Amino acid sequence: MTDELNQPRVTLATLQDMQRRGEKIASLTCYDSSFTLLLEAAGIDVFIIGDSLGMVLKGHETTVPVTMADMLYHAANVARVGRHAYRVVDMPYMSYTNPDQALANAARLMGEGGADMVKLEGGTSMAAAVEEIVSHGIPVCGHIGLLPQSIEQLGGYKVQGRDAAAAAALLEDARSLEEAGAALLVMECIPAALAEQITAALSIPTIGIGAGPGCDGQVLVLYDMLGITPGKPATFVKDFLEETGTIHAAVEAYVRSVKDGSYPAPEHCF
Ligand code: KIV
Repeated sequence: MTDELNQPRVTLATLQDMQRRGEKIASLTCYDSSFTLLLEAAGIDVFIIGDSLGMVLKGHETTVPVTMADMLYHAANVARVGRHAYRVVDMPYMSYTNPDQALANAARLMGEGGADMVKLEGGTSMAAAVEEIVSHGIPVCGHIGLLPQSIEQLGGYKVQGRDAAAAAALLEDARSLEEAGAALLVMECIPAALAEQITAALSIPTIGIGAGPGCDGQVLVLYDMLGITPGKPATFVKDFLEETGTIHAAVEAYVRSVKDGSYPAPEHCF
């Protein structure tokens, strides 16, 4: 066990300081109290209470059926025992279709779910919702690239931003979100070179999943990095349990690999 539990809470200022110092941010998804304690003891900086729970906990094929009630329940489970890591909670499908609705649901995730920050999917088209939430003192994390809530429109789980026009649109999305007040940005399944370019163009920290080593931090779905998720893993996933043998050691190895830059390796990148 590390002495992480004795460390002060991670705040947005901590993450900004890590970005300035070049210390990589190690993040995993988390949905319950047992894993909250284990992941904090292993040194995780940021929890994403992700709507991926629709797949890994509830057995749905996509994140689309996930509800506000689901997110509030799981976020509160994490917040009840969490003492160290920063908690980013996903806004579920259709919970932010206009700025008023977005603000009302973000406020519930903060008040009832114990979120430190809310995350929503989309770029420029989400700027008004982001502005409204942020103007009421709630920190927002953007999410661009592969947007699981729009999977039907995207036509499947594919790498985004491969051609020049799509890459330029993603850079524009990232800039719009930052301008609207987003304080953190998740980039999912985009080429490593593009993620590096976007990270360099922004002042806010970026966290990648399938976006290469050039981001300020990394996140994986917990069940993927423990090798629990059935089927062929995505290119960017590494099973850390396989080489370590215990869940605690696997998470510690993940944190170490993110911090020393050895994960993601070239074979995990697009
Ligand atoms: O729901 C989720 O797991 C996510 C990941 C990108 C972290 O949003």
